Amino acid sequence: MSFSENAKALIRKESYINGIWVEADNDSEFEVINPANQEIIAKIANLGGNETEKAVQAAEEALKTWKHTLAKDRANLLREWAKEIRLHTDALAEILTIEQGKPLLEAKSEILYGLSFIDWFAEETRRTYGDIVPTHKKDARIMLTRQPIGVVGAITPWNHPNAMIARKVSPALAAGCTVVLKPSEETPLSAIALTILAEKAGFPKGVFNLVVGDNASQIGTVLTQHPVVKKISFTGSTAVGKKLMAQVSSTVKKVSLELGGNAPFIVFESADLDKAVQGAIDCKFRNAGQTCVSANRIYVHDAIYERFVDKFTKKVNAMKVGNGMDEGVKIGPLIYPKAVDKVAGHVKDAIDKGATLLCGGTKPQAVGNFYQPTVLTRLTQTMAIAKEETFGPIAGLFKFSNEDEVIKWANDTLYGLAAYVYTRDFAQIFRTTEALEYGMVAVNEPYLSAEAAPFGGIKESGIGREGSRYGLKEFTEIKYTLIGGL
Ligand code: SIN
Repeated sequence: MSFSENAKALIRKESYINGIWVEADNDSEFEVINPANQEIIAKIANLGGNETEKAVQAAEEALKTWKHTLAKDRANLLREWAKEIRLHTDALAEILTIEQGKPLLEAKSEILYGLSFIDWFAEETRRTYGDIVPTHKKDARIMLTRQPIGVVGAITPWNHPNAMIARKVSPALAAGCTVVLKPSEETPLSAIALTILAEKAGFPKGVFNLVVGDNASQIGTVLTQHPVVKKISFTGSTAVGKKLMAQVSSTVKKVSLELGGNAPFIVFESADLDKAVQGAIDCKFRNAGQTCVSANRIYVHDAIYERFVDKFTKKVNAMKVGNGMDEGVKIGPLIYPKAVDKVAGHVKDAIDKGATLLCGGTKPQAVGNFYQPTVLTRLTQTMAIAKEETFGPIAGLFKFSNEDEVIKWANDTLYGLAAYVYTRDFAQIFRTTEALEYGMVAVNEPYLSAEAAPFGGIKESGIGREGSRYGLKEFTEIKYTLIGGL
């Protein structure tokens, strides 16, 4: 699969440090693979620790000026960036689909989703208000202001390779921080394209730096241990998040961590059945299930279980699997072969422990990292799906008979990112949303991510929030100034 001319104009092999496109110091390269057909789609400069050090230095130098720019000037630059992205939406979506696999329509909505954050933070930067606090002394005043935290290391994932960059980089820049971005080595092209557009937008040199390389631990080690970097913002697995947290401890950096999830999706007997079925389909199969807020466990009340299973399975059977660039495809490939193995392992574990396979359960073709959308019933809490994040197109349907039982099961995980409840009983909405140990709960809705809402988890799903006014605060420090002798 080759790229269109418009997409080619947004692809290059170098990284971007201090306003200059640079090769790796040792001239090495790595390959980017299309997960739909395993073809090599690009060879990219493979940067490492030395180049990351240079990027941090550039960001430190640029910070001296950037942190003093007026909020309205930062807002204008962010708007310019958004304008460039809007103009290139189709090319960005094409790049995203070819390097990551998701269907083109989904890729386009990801570009718009990313844009919503840039638009939001371009507005929000002008509202980074402080406080005047009632004083404790007659001749003194207490003033609180918000200052940029400093140089930020942003480490972004492959599952939403465009929007997660927008969601981290735009609030950091809006707050007056400078950034060193390290995108996933699986999906560097979206990051390079966004950086080309940021350069066109006119950010001063060193404000936004991009370091691409396939040795994540080398780049990550410099970012997490460098005394100049004051904050790490990471989206990825809980296992890697824990490692980064340990690494930042030596320099006591702030962290925002958006980590794994194992979302329960609970359908009570009063739910609108058709809406609940469609909601479960949307929530489970977006991005082939490779989203940290995907439904991982679908709990359905026994009074409606059989009807739900029937309607749900019919819809899953109708889903077209294939290359995301092809018309009508709903389920693209998984990111790499290891992901297919993990998903197959969850299916096998469930079947071995007594689950029934209603559809899917196979790898439909030899080439490409595909896995057929799968429905399993008769799931129990002892199965891997009940505890671990599946990150694939596997829907596990559990039956429950009362509210206390299902809330207990829903909370029985180390994760605490997102949960979903379908019910038309108002008292139950309050009881269950309060009892669910999750950072985000959606009621009668399958999509909870939005620029105006604070995305984030509790327990081992992470620390901090992204999006909303809280997302900007993550990149600021409170300065308390006491003015005496008045
Ligand atoms: C993620 O999967 O990391 C983010 C998903 C979202 O923003 O909806």
